[in-house]
Order: sequence, then structure tokens, then C-alpha cells
Amino acid sequence: MTATSKPESAGKRVQISGLSKLYGGHPAVDRVSIDIAAGSFCTILGASGSGKTTLLKMVAGYEQPTEGRIEIDGRDVASMRVAARNIGMVFQNYALFPHMTVAANLAFPLEMRGLAKADIVARVTAMLELIGLAGFGSRLPRELSGGQQQRVALGRALIFEPDILLMDEPLGALDKNMRQAMQREIRAIHRKVGVTVLYVTHDQDEAMNMADLVVVMDKGRVAQTGSPLDIYNAPRTDFVATFLGDCNLIDVERGRDGVRRLALAGGIAIPAGVKSGRAEMVGVRPERISVGADPIQRDIVLSGTVVETHFNGADHDVVVDVDGRPVRARLANGGQLPPSIGNRAYLGCDFADLIPLEAIGATR
Ligand SMILES: Nc1ncnc2c1ncn2[C@@H]1O[C@H](COP(=O)(O)OP(=O)(O)OP(=O)(O)O)[C@@H](O)[C@H]1O
Ligand SMILES: [Mg+2]
Repeated sequence: MTATSKPESAGKRVQISGLSKLYGGHPAVDRVSIDIAAGSFCTILGASGSGKTTLLKMVAGYEQPTEGRIEIDGRDVASMRVAARNIGMVFQNYALFPHMTVAANLAFPLEMRGLAKADIVARVTAMLELIGLAGFGSRLPRELSGGQQQRVALGRALIFEPDILLMDEPLGALDKNMRQAMQREIRAIHRKVGVTVLYVTHDQDEAMNMADLVVVMDKGRVAQTGSPLDIYNAPRTDFVATFLGDCNLIDVERGRDGVRRLALAGGIAIPAGVKSGRAEMVGVRPERISVGADPIQRDIVLSGTVVETHFNGADHDVVVDVDGRPVRARLANGGQLPPSIGNRAYLGCDFADLIPLEAIGATR
């Protein structure tokens, strides 16, 4: 293997079906089904305790499922031992051997597998290059930054050319800039080596940034699976809509006349042609809502008093009290400034901006 050539195994398909894990009768993972294409990057996003680590442990073979199947390229792994699964792993606490040099840490999995010395040296050199640490081979882990240590952990998990790479909050200990730099690096390395990745995070930006496929978990279950764009633009439930990004939630009421109305500003009728399925609720992303001091020409126009503004560099977040309900809007920086706190504001969006949602209980 060289730093630029693809290793021979370029990732395998992972099919998880009806997978559950019960601890003392309580499901940590509850009938999870996910189909991850060979060589793709899958992020698993969920709150603390939603079952992410338990799911990875079952794929790795460290926990036995109570129910369900895991297949790697169509082969049931139930009877396969941990080593036979050919899976690399990276966790939040780097878990490098502290008394061993970077090169020795990288060489370790190859020595365990009994590779020839010359082969090991060549692979370690290539891996140091791939992870951007050429020349760091003789350092000890404590002589590296957090991000560099995490790159070594990544290199050690990839050096034996695994079919699948499991990562559990690998960047959790890093600051924001380092995290973002590492996210880009991990993606770049993934493009080069093409291993199938299951990447656990509770950071929504990270989950969307990195993934081909996002799996949102809630209390052990899959809440939704899809591309980052699908999940953001077409969340199916209020939970997913608010877990990934901000979303205004508005109840939909169906009157005796059969007309659906938004439970807002005295009831705004939704025209018959507008897609809302059997939605009990609709969502509107804040960046879809225009806000200004003057009346706006949109399908839906509301007015109220500005109660909060936050400037975060890229955008202004504005909260407007509309008849006692907070409505969030987002204005890109560089355009019009939002009206200031205490002033009257007009809000507007179009029916096409409404996302039909099933109400299962949002978390925030
Ligand atoms: N060995 C165990 N014995 C009993 N209960 C467990 C065990 N491991 C996990 N659990 C429980 O299973 C649930 C899911 O845990 P898990 O570690 O998979 O969550 P997680 O999504 O990884 O959370 P976090 O983001 O905090 O790491 C939790 O309620 C946890 O308390
Ligand atoms: Mg965990």
C-alpha cells in the first residue's frame, strides 16, 4: 500500500436488520434496520443514551444482539469472532499505547497479524504520510496535540486495511477548529481508502457534514435514515426536524368544514393543493422566513414584536413574538439588518416552505 493507491479491500456492505439489545429487559437498541452501501460514510446521530455505542459494539462483536441480524457483504456475522470481522475502530479517548512511539503504535496491529518486518515498515511509512504525520514516527503520544493523537488512532485502525471502520465520537475531545479540520481530513482519507464507515456523533453539524447516509436515533430506535439533504429538507417527525437544525413547529387543525388551518394568528387556511399529507403539524426552517420592518409579499404573513436577536457571524437569529408564540427567523449577514428588540416586525414565508410533520414529541 502506498499513500495514494487504494488498498485492495475497498469497503463492504453492512446490513443490519431488526437488531435489538436488551439490558435487564430494557431495550438499549430497539429493532434497528440500516443498509449501508459498500464504501459509504454513515453517521449515526443521537442524544446521549440513544443506543449508538451499543449498536457499534454489536457490529464489532463485543456485544451479542438479543435479536436481529448483522450481515457483512451478505454474510451473517453471528458466528464470526471479533478478529474475523476485519473491522477497525477509533474511540473518543484515543487509547494509544502511551509508552510506544507513533510508529510502534501504527505497527502494532500488523505485528499482531504476523506481517513481515519489511512490509510493516513500508506500511507504517505510507500510513504516516496518509495521516499527515510523516516525520512524527519516533514521537511518543504525549508529544502530540489532541488532533495528531487522533490521527494516529485513525491510522492504527486503518493500517491493516479493514473492510469496515467504526468510529465512536472520535473528535469529542477536540476544540471546534480542530474538530472541523479533522472532519475534513477524515473525509479526505475516506475518499482515498474507500472503507465503509459507521461514525457515531451527537453533533448534528458533524453528522450532516460528513455523511453519505445519516441515521438519526431516538431511544434505541431509528427515527429516520436518509441523505443529509433529505433529512434536513424532509424530516418526517417533529423530533427529527428539531434534532437536526432549528425548526418552527406549528400545529395543523382540521375544521368541521374540512379545511386545514395553521394554529397561528387566528388560523391561517392551508389551500387544498398544498402538500401536507395527514400532517398533524408543519415545520418551517428559520432561514425560510423573511423578516423586516415593513410588510412582506409572501403567502403567509405574520407580524409581532421582536423579543430576541442573536448575531453569530454568518446570520442574525431573530425571535418574534406572534400572539404570545415565539417564531424564529434567520437572516444572512450582509443583507438587511433585522428590526431591533421591542420593534414591530413582519414575518413571511410561502406554503411551499411548510414541511408536513408527524407529531411524536420534539425534544427541545
Ligand atoms: N452494559 C450495559 N448494561 C446495562 N445497560 C447498558 C449497558 N450499556 C449501555 N446501557 C444502557 O443502554 C442505553 C444506551 O447506551 P449507549 O451507550 O449505547 O448510548 P449512547 O447513544 O452511546 O450514549 P452516549 O452519547 O452517552 O455515548 C443507555 O440507557 C445505557 O444506560
Ligand atoms: Mg456512546
